[in-house]
Amino acid sequence: MNLDFKNKNVLVTGASRGIGSSIAFAFAQAGARIALNYASSDERAQEVLKTLPGSGHGLYKFDVAQADQVEGGIEKILKDFGSLQVVVNNAGITRDQILLRMKEDDWDQVMQTNLKSVFLVTRLAVKSMLKARHGSIINVSSIIGQTGQAGQSNYAAAKAGIIAFTKSIALEVASRSIRINCIAPGFIETDMTKSLSEDVRKGILDRVPMGSMGKPEDIAGGCLFLASPLASYITGHTLDVNGGLLMN
Ligand SMILES: NC(=O)c1ccc[n+]([C@@H]2O[C@H](COP(=O)([O-])OP(=O)(O)OC[C@H]3O[C@@H](n4cnc5c(N)ncnc54)[C@H](OP(=O)(O)O)[C@@H]3O)[C@@H](O)[C@H]2O)c1
Repeated sequence: MNLDFKNKNVLVTGASRGIGSSIAFAFAQAGARIALNYASSDERAQEVLKTLPGSGHGLYKFDVAQADQVEGGIEKILKDFGSLQVVVNNAGITRDQILLRMKEDDWDQVMQTNLKSVFLVTRLAVKSMLKARHGSIINVSSIIGQTGQAGQSNYAAAKAGIIAFTKSIALEVASRSIRINCIAPGFIETDMTKSLSEDVRKGILDRVPMGSMGKPEDIAGGCLFLASPLASYITGHTLDVNGGLLMN
């Protein structure tokens, strides 16, 4: 048993940068053919595509929060690739604000992009995997969905929702050999955390037992493991990748 993904097709949502691009790279390096999804960063997505080892990869630009776009996007991927063995629901956004200042639109956008998208993509992925009676889905949650965070009630609710959704679907599809798990990153160096002030950053680092922010590759490694035969008896699980932060 190893981390060989030759002849496997993998969809990674939100793969034009940050954690998603690292996940795509790791699966490509392990031999997989990658469908890279993104929303708007055309140039960055092209760059990521160029750096992927192997061949047969493709870019699929669609908004994971819009049902019609998800349907069209996944239909195209299945037409091009034939099948999907692994799907990583990684796309996500933040619209941080304390409750009394949070606009309805801040709530809706985060719930739609971070949670509804997981429902939309998973529904179609499961449908295609049921026929093969095989597949692995990984949903990117967050430590914030486990602890809560002032100023991030929308994001925390969406990320906690992903964990409950994942467990429910794991129960629905376990008998068909489809596994569905979450990965819950701590604080990872990407565009999403770039705007944190020095004070906030220092506050986080003081609380991380391992003393540093994580790298996108740390999350990619966890995804590779969860999708591999090494995790063949693991479903409905949330893998914490946070340098020990959840214990503090
Ligand atoms: N960074 C962290 O510390 C951290 C911690 C815990 C969890 N996470 C989670 O990890 C995931 C990736 O985070 P990141 O830090 O890598 O974020 P990022 O650098 O901001 O990248 C976000 C990615 O999601 C894509 N995206 C956003 N909205 C989309 C939509 N509606 N449809 C399709 N794609 C969309 C973006 O595409 P465009 O470039 O085209 O906009 C981009 O590729 C997110 O779910 C995030 O919540 C991150």
